[in-house]
Amino acid sequence: MHSIKELKNIKGKVVIVRVDFNVPMKDGKVEDDFRVKKALPTINFLQKKGAKIILIAHLGKGGETLAPVSKVLNKYVKTKFVPEIISENVSKVILEMKNSEIVMLENLRNDAGEQSNNKFFAMNLAKLADIYVNEAFSVSHRSDASITILPKIMPSYAGFQIQEEIKNLSKATQNPKHPFLFILGGAKFSTKIPLIKKYLKLADYIFIGGALLNDFIKAKGFEIGKSLVDENNYGIDKILKNKKIIIPDYVVVRNIEGKLIQKTIADIYKDDIILDVGNESIKLLEPIINKSKLILWNGPLGKYEDGGSKATKEVLKIISQTKAESIIGGGDTV
Ligand code: 3PG
Repeated sequence: MHSIKELKNIKGKVVIVRVDFNVPMKDGKVEDDFRVKKALPTINFLQKKGAKIILIAHLGKGGETLAPVSKVLNKYVKTKFVPEIISENVSKVILEMKNSEIVMLENLRNDAGEQSNNKFFAMNLAKLADIYVNEAFSVSHRSDASITILPKIMPSYAGFQIQEEIKNLSKATQNPKHPFLFILGGAKFSTKIPLIKKYLKLADYIFIGGALLNDFIKAKGFEIGKSLVDENNYGIDKILKNKKIIIPDYVVVRNIEGKLIQKTIADIYKDDIILDVGNESIKLLEPIINKSKLILWNGPLGKYEDGGSKATKEVLKIISQTKAESIIGGGDTV
C-alpha cells in the first residue's frame, strides 16, 4: 500500500476518493456521521495540497440517494453534490472544478456496474480522475468495481483511515495476544461465516450474538419463532462442534403480547422474536472477558433498533473496565 503521504505535486490533479459513507439512516436522515468524520483527515490533506477531489461512495443496497449524506459532509467541508455517476453533466462539473474543490457523486450502487464489478463502469469512473485513493476499509471486502478495478487501472493510494484500520486489525491477525476472545454479532450472515472460520484458527473463544445467533439456535434444533434468519446452509453444524464456539443459553424475546422477556433457547415459542442476548448469558461471558488479553468484536449483540440494545451496552461496559486490548468495529456497532 502506498500512503497518500507519498503524493507530491498534486495541485490541480483530480483525485477520486472511494469513501464508505454507508451510514445508518432513518426516515431519510443520517443517524450517525462517524464514518463521514473519519474520512475528513484524508479529504483535508488532499484539499490542502490543492487537489480537485471527487468523492464516490455507496449507500444501502442501491436505489437510495447520497444527498442527505452530502448535506452532513457539507457541515464539515464545502461539498457540491451531483446526483449522477457517469454523465455529460458530471464530466462538465469536473472540468469546471477549481483546485481544492470537492464534488460528491451519487450512490455507486445505483449503477448495476458497481456490484457486478463491471470493467466498463470502472473505466468510465477512471476517466474522471488522475489518481485513485481508497479510504473505504469497511467495504474493501467486496468485489465491487470501485474497490477492485480502479486501483488496477489508476495510480492508487491508501487514505489515512484505511491505514489506521489495517494497523489496528493486524493486532488480531498477526501474533495475537492470548487469551483472545472474539465476539461476533450483527446480521450479515454471509460475510460473518468466513470470519468465524478465520478466527477459529486465531482466537480461543468465539461468542455468538446478533441475528447470527438465531441461525445457530435453529441449527441446534430449537424453535426460533419469527426471528430473523438466513435460510442458506453455511455448514453451521460443523462449526457448532468446535469447543471454542460459545452459544448463549439465554435470550431476550419479544413475545406475542409485545413484552420483552428473558428465556432459555429451549423455551422459545412460535410467535416469539429473538431480540437480544439474555443477561444470564452475559454473566457467563463476563469471566471470559475478564481473563482475555485481546478482545475483537464486530456487530451488535441484539436488534438494538427494536429494543435489543441492553446486552451490547452491558458487554461494552464490562470490556471498558478491563485491561484487555479491545478492537471493536462495524457500521452499526459504532
Ligand atoms: C458496511 O456498512 O458494512 C459496508 O459499507 C459494506 O456494506 P455492504 O455489506 O452492504 O456491502
